[in-house]
Amino acid sequence: MAFPTSVPLLILLLTFGLLGRPGSATDFVIYSDPPTALLPGQMFHYDLTPQDIPYGRASLVMKPDCNLVLYFNGSKTWATNTTGLGDNCYLTIDSHGEAIVQRNIHYPVWRSNKTSVVGSYAFLLQWNGELGIYGPAIWSSSNEGELSDPKPSNITTDYVFYSYSVLPIGKILEYKNYRLVLRDDCNLVLLDTNTNTQDIKWQTNTYSPLHDCFITLDPNGELFVKHNRRDILWRSNETTNSNFSALVLRYDAKLVIYGPQLWTTKPLW
Ligand SMILES: *[C@@H]1O[C@H](CO)[C@@H](O)[C@H](O)[C@H]1NC(C)=O
Ligand SMILES: *[C@@H]1O[C@H](CO)[C@@H](O)[C@H](O)[C@H]1NC(C)=O
Ligand SMILES: *[C@@H]1O[C@H](CO)[C@@H](O)[C@H](O)[C@H]1NC(C)=O
Ligand SMILES: *[C@@H]1O[C@H](CO)[C@@H](O)[C@H](O)[C@H]1NC(C)=O
Ligand SMILES: *[C@@H]1O[C@H](CO)[C@@H](O)[C@H](O)[C@H]1NC(C)=O
Ligand SMILES: *[C@@H]1O[C@H](CO)[C@@H](O)[C@H](O)[C@H]1NC(C)=O
Repeated sequence: MAFPTSVPLLILLLTFGLLGRPGSATDFVIYSDPPTALLPGQMFHYDLTPQDIPYGRASLVMKPDCNLVLYFNGSKTWATNTTGLGDNCYLTIDSHGEAIVQRNIHYPVWRSNKTSVVGSYAFLLQWNGELGIYGPAIWSSSNEGELSDPKPSNITTDYVFYSYSVLPIGKILEYKNYRLVLRDDCNLVLLDTNTNTQDIKWQTNTYSPLHDCFITLDPNGELFVKHNRRDILWRSNETTNSNFSALVLRYDAKLVIYGPQLWTTKPLW
């Protein structure tokens, strides 16, 4: 894990509001809004095998030689092939959903070449070791955005939930000091675990005495809290024309649903 090497680049990124989050070794999402970047020499890393989730280790590395390289389960699986095209190259995603590798200062050396309407987008190192761009955002929790614990964490936790997943009572997602939990009484709550009282930042205010609830995300991006096998306790009510979406617990404490999948290194179908 390396840190940004170029002061001019840092100033540039700050000038343009890009939040680099050095030390984000176990992160695996880049956002268009508020913007984040994978900076020169930085790497994303994803490994849930210690938590008995049987996918291989994945990493995405913005190499100092300007090549953006994806590794999965020990092998190189994809690259932008931009070696030697510039110095201080970094990866961002823009408000049209296009991923761009730029060299110092702003010259693009690689683009994903798929654009969509203006909105908020997320670039994910996915659970299966592939890359995916999702958006625009179709739903967001109503709490105020804020900055998470600035301390870097090297513990991988899962903070993305995909369509076709079903999760029972318990921890749903965790990002640093933020945790989304489906409680035993069927209330879906977003907590700040840094506070003694575990402040609730957002909740569905749902209740069921049956202790059998679960959450699902439909392919069209609608999030549900259900119980009694399939009865709906809560729904997000926003949908998009999509067959695959992602719910992300972002670094600013907001839950956001992005869909459809606009670009990927390997289609699911
Ligand atoms: C990862 O590599 C190991 C050892 O080479 C192999 O047994 C395993 O099936 C691979 N996992 C995936 C998801 O490809
Ligand atoms: C990079 O080069 C490899 C090997 O030539 C090729 O298979 C791959 O498609 C290229 N990547 C991109 C993004 O074009
Ligand atoms: C994107 O489009 C440019 C210009 O047409 C082309 O040179 C480049 O190879 C394309 N990139 C990908 C990843 O397809
Ligand atoms: C995380 O970082 C700390 C301090 O650098 C180190 O002691 C610990 O072993 C690391 N844990 C993992 C799982 O890498
Ligand atoms: C979704 O719509 C239902 C029915 O109109 C409404 O009762 C519920 O409050 C809405 N949910 C949200 C999260 O807005
Ligand atoms: C759903 O997946 C199929 C198969 O890849 C694809 O052709 C189609 O465009 C997708 N539909 C939507 C609405 O995204």
